Amino acid sequence: MGRVLLGLAVGCAVVGCGIAAVAVGRRARSRRAWGRAVAVLKELEEGCATPTSRLRQVVDAMAVEMHAGLASDGGSKLKMLLTFVDALPDGNETGTYYALDLGATTFRVLKVQLGGKRSMILRHQFEQHPIPADLMTGTSEDLFDFLAMTLRNFVERENDGFQQSDKRKELGLTFSFPVRQLSVSSGILIKWTKGFAIEDAVGKDVAQCLQEALTKSGLDMRVAALVNDTVGTLALGHYHDEDTVVAVIIGTGTNACYIERVDAIIKCQGLLTNSGGMVINMEWGNFWSSHLPRTPYDFALDDESLNRNDQGFEKMISGMYLGDIVRRVLLRIALESDVFGDSAQSLSKPFILRTPLMAAIHEDDSPNLKEVGRILEENLQMPNISLKARRLVVRVCDVITQRAARLAAAGIVGILKKIGRDGSGGVASGRAIGKVRRTVVAIEGGIYANYSTFREYLKEALVEILGEEIVRNVILRAYEDGSGIGAALLAASHSSEW
Ligand code: GLC
Repeated sequence: MGRVLLGLAVGCAVVGCGIAAVAVGRRARSRRAWGRAVAVLKELEEGCATPTSRLRQVVDAMAVEMHAGLASDGGSKLKMLLTFVDALPDGNETGTYYALDLGATTFRVLKVQLGGKRSMILRHQFEQHPIPADLMTGTSEDLFDFLAMTLRNFVERENDGFQQSDKRKELGLTFSFPVRQLSVSSGILIKWTKGFAIEDAVGKDVAQCLQEALTKSGLDMRVAALVNDTVGTLALGHYHDEDTVVAVIIGTGTNACYIERVDAIIKCQGLLTNSGGMVINMEWGNFWSSHLPRTPYDFALDDESLNRNDQGFEKMISGMYLGDIVRRVLLRIALESDVFGDSAQSLSKPFILRTPLMAAIHEDDSPNLKEVGRILEENLQMPNISLKARRLVVRVCDVITQRAARLAAAGIVGILKKIGRDGSGGVASGRAIGKVRRTVVAIEGGIYANYSTFREYLKEALVEILGEEIVRNVILRAYEDGSGIGAALLAASHSSEW
């Protein structure tokens, strides 16, 4: 009996040791897995770091590239496109105008009624429609026919309550892609961005394409203005506040425009205009500088994109890409550790983590990051992710968004520097160091409007770069739908009626 008991005791001890060994082994493996995950995070943090000194280098590079882009065609990756907009709407415009705003995966049609005598915008109505995915890579005729038909239906539906007139209707076309303008109402598409790839449209006058489609659809309407979304936003911003001299879009894509002094343009391009300035569409999404903190995830994203080696700044900042950078980091963590268990296959699917979802993960303030868990489970098929791993996911979102917002801030200060409003008292300003006149920057786009942490990081970086004193005179003013309403305003100020 004693021997049996002894045998049992030894047996239990062996089993117990075995269990303990398995547990210890599991703990050690888990520690190693976490070690690898944390190492990936640390490397990411270092790769994405944007200390103020680096942001200042980006500011300088932006100002230098702006000069170079203005000086000669192809002088910089910044295209610095002339818009031929040398006067912005001043509030005296009257009548009803239309706009068609094509920027990304959705487009808007709008109708705006203007009362003149600075009575501002009396009414505006709009409709938003998705662009069918096949039209984004089809033919230009199909795209413009679709836009014209949707506009025609809108015009027919939306007549109620507006003053009607028999005059030919006038339209502002917001076309948010790089266009070499030939006049304020015509321009050639240079290339597509943001996932569009309609090859036969490149090199064509997009205003003329729409004009032909409108005529075909039976709609008596003239394209009176062709503008970039930044230019539309600047027009609306300036309409409300004359100190608005810069406009920035941070949405699916990112870009900026500003009012350049005419002598700078004449000096650079021998061009004469009848006013003090002209709006320049920078196409800053294509800005590039060796000072930008680029990681292997950015290289891989670029390699696999439709527009390789293009839009480098945009790929680090805008809504089309932020979620996918995060996905790439999470995928690497999943491949190198088991902190997400074995349910992270969906992370290998490009663009499965859209930026709005990433923002929701980042801004989850529910107890124990419940919302993060829900999104991972429902949208990425990653159930039962531990709290510690959920925290890691949030931190990755934070690193990527902070870098994006801080770079956007540096871009804005780069423009202020170029126009002598950064308080540095550069040659352009002729002003004393430390003084800057009130300067308003109009901002639009889903990332800026809906992602409050992004906004906070951007503002924080502006203060860091410019200092408390100067930043007080730099006002960021957010607009909704400025790109569309602004285009209608520009159609009004460039209407054949005037
Ligand atoms: C892309 C386009 C640019 C546009 C921006 C924001 O960068 O090339 O024209 O302004 O997206 O929509």
